[in-house]
Amino acid sequence: MKRVVSGIKPTGDVTLGNYIGAMRRWGEMSANPEKEHFFFVPNLHALTVRPDPAELKRMSRSAVAWLLACGVDHDHSYIFMQSQVPAHSELTWILNNYTTLGELNRMTQFKDKAGRAGSEGQLVGLYDYPVMMAADILLYDAEEVPVGEDQKQHVELTRDIATRFNNLYGDTFVVPQPTVQKEGARIMNLQDPTKKMSKRDLDDSGNILLDDDEKTIEKKILKAVTDSGSAVATGADKPALTNMLVIMSVLGGKSIEDLELQYAGRGYGEFKQDLADLVVHTIKPLRKVHDQYMKEGSDKIDSALKHGWWRASELANAKLTRVKDKLGLL
Ligand code: TYM
Repeated sequence: MKRVVSGIKPTGDVTLGNYIGAMRRWGEMSANPEKEHFFFVPNLHALTVRPDPAELKRMSRSAVAWLLACGVDHDHSYIFMQSQVPAHSELTWILNNYTTLGELNRMTQFKDKAGRAGSEGQLVGLYDYPVMMAADILLYDAEEVPVGEDQKQHVELTRDIATRFNNLYGDTFVVPQPTVQKEGARIMNLQDPTKKMSKRDLDDSGNILLDDDEKTIEKKILKAVTDSGSAVATGADKPALTNMLVIMSVLGGKSIEDLELQYAGRGYGEFKQDLADLVVHTIKPLRKVHDQYMKEGSDKIDSALKHGWWRASELANAKLTRVKDKLGLL
């Protein structure tokens, strides 16, 4: 059976960008019984930002609750916690020996994050992050990795590592394909449309969090920066409106062209209010389910993790044994 793997890092509250670029699709695709889907919480990756332990636990459980709320909840879909499957760490170490410094130096996300972190924050874990991501994918023979635009380069590196290993030791890994949706693969910050919407900003006024209440969402959208002119239209000189139109198009299921026509001659104010209503309407039911799962006493999160852990461990351990065997590791 074909397999699909992807994950959401527990480093902050899940954003509308995560939902539109990735999780929304995960919920839809996981209903397909012809494939096995693995959506995991890469909590080992979160260590690169040295989270507070209690916060890490809360965000990890919250990530599972969002996955469940987005509809990743089927017999043939698995949600698991990365740290509960030790094969991820072990394969990372092995793959470190099949990845060059040159390749890691080219990773734009590392350059970006390390640049902002200063020398104290330039950790080996951050540098090695793409190798662990390769291990996360290759352990499961995933053919498909549905991600947002920012993760595409990492999946491409995974392909190179897998191909290199296969050339040296014979067929071992399935070479995965990143799948990035046409629209909404990079949702931008509402206060600075040159910057990606992100979970980890000190100032969240431009990021919509799935946890935000209705009033907050409305305020953030009504206060979003706009472009010069007054037309509700896309274009290279209209990054803010382009971003908002993309959000409306993906969530409302209308093409950008139709929306441009619909709002022709109408002002930014009316458009923003409609967008706020649509976003609230989309997020509200998800938050309700998420909050229900997060309530004390709910064992849904634990039982989902147990179900996923069992299947993930089975596959990951078998793959690791095969790799060790090929390498002469007793
Ligand atoms: P993470 O946690 O940053 O994001 C989860 C998913 O959301 C997408 N995404 C966005 N899409 C559109 N617009 C945005 N503004 C936006 N922000 C985030 C991301 O592209 C991603 O698909 N390294 C990964 C986690 C990971 C992983 C893996 C993914 C670890 N191992 C193996 C796939 C396979 C990450 O940090 O995603």
